[in-house]
Amino acid sequence: MSRTLPLSQQVIWLTGASSGIGEALTRHLAPLCRHLYISARSTDKLNALAAGFNNVTALPADITDETSLANASEIIRENHQRLDTLIANAGTCEYVDVEAFEPAMFRRVHETNLFGLVNTVGAALPLLRNSPRGYIVGVSSSVAMLAMPRAEAYGSSKAAVTHFLESLKADVAALNIDVSVVSPGFVKTPLTDVNDFPMPMRITADEAAVATIKGLERRSWHIHFPKRFTFILWCLGQLPAFLRHRLTRAMSRTGTSAQETEQ
Ligand SMILES: NC(=O)c1ccc[n+]([C@@H]2O[C@H](COP(=O)([O-])OP(=O)(O)OC[C@H]3O[C@@H](n4cnc5c(N)ncnc54)[C@H](OP(=O)(O)O)[C@@H]3O)[C@@H](O)[C@H]2O)c1
Repeated sequence: MSRTLPLSQQVIWLTGASSGIGEALTRHLAPLCRHLYISARSTDKLNALAAGFNNVTALPADITDETSLANASEIIRENHQRLDTLIANAGTCEYVDVEAFEPAMFRRVHETNLFGLVNTVGAALPLLRNSPRGYIVGVSSSVAMLAMPRAEAYGSSKAAVTHFLESLKADVAALNIDVSVVSPGFVKTPLTDVNDFPMPMRITADEAAVATIKGLERRSWHIHFPKRFTFILWCLGQLPAFLRHRLTRAMSRTGTSAQETEQ
């Protein structure tokens, strides 16, 4: 088994760096690693972030566009010939309204969260093979532990991401590449700032970045936080189906309004 390079010698590529968890990860990771490449579509935000460090390069890319990712990975190849860690963090969230059910929304969410992540892994794999011990970190969500109301699109995309990464882990082990999945609970970012429902135990993006880095230094398979929240969610996910369904029905807005109508 080849040795894992210390973070200080690693070349890292992070997607979704223009905002939220990715932006916080950039600020926390840059001082620890050799070189950090950061991607997102918002070029101005990436350039402003990269300007604060002498070892960070902005690589604007759209993860739904394979050519855009191929161009970005080519720059890493030209500069470093290898990639040690990929952090596929870019993602989006839209919630379902069953009264206005929109299949196209499922395609949008899966296009970014699942296929965008798969595209990113595809662009990074040849470079990761040049590392003494490559590492793929995919950001999923704790929602993959329990099917929540209104999360038909987001939750199914993240459950697919978790499953994809676990299968991939088996297949890339022989290539000397490790795989981890990150399952955050609620984190205060622009993605959750628009939510109009309670978000128990919500943490800051800085706290999420610190917990993620701790997990990736150990190469733990499942990096999840905050621990108390993910433990409770995991326990609820283990309940018999009829109890899970009773619980999530009670959380559903449709369920509530139907009950109100019945009364
Ligand atoms: N916040 C939470 O509570 C929470 C909980 C569980 C999981 N997560 C996951 O954590 C990850 C980061 O979320 P966040 O909360 O930090 O959200 P955020 O603040 O909205 O950031 C999302 C990032 O993804 C990028 N992105 C979106 N679509 C992209 C595309 N097509 N191509 C390239 N980049 C794209 C955005 O940049 P541009 O718009 O500039 O492209 C942005 O940098 C996501 O995968 C999310 O699902 C978040």
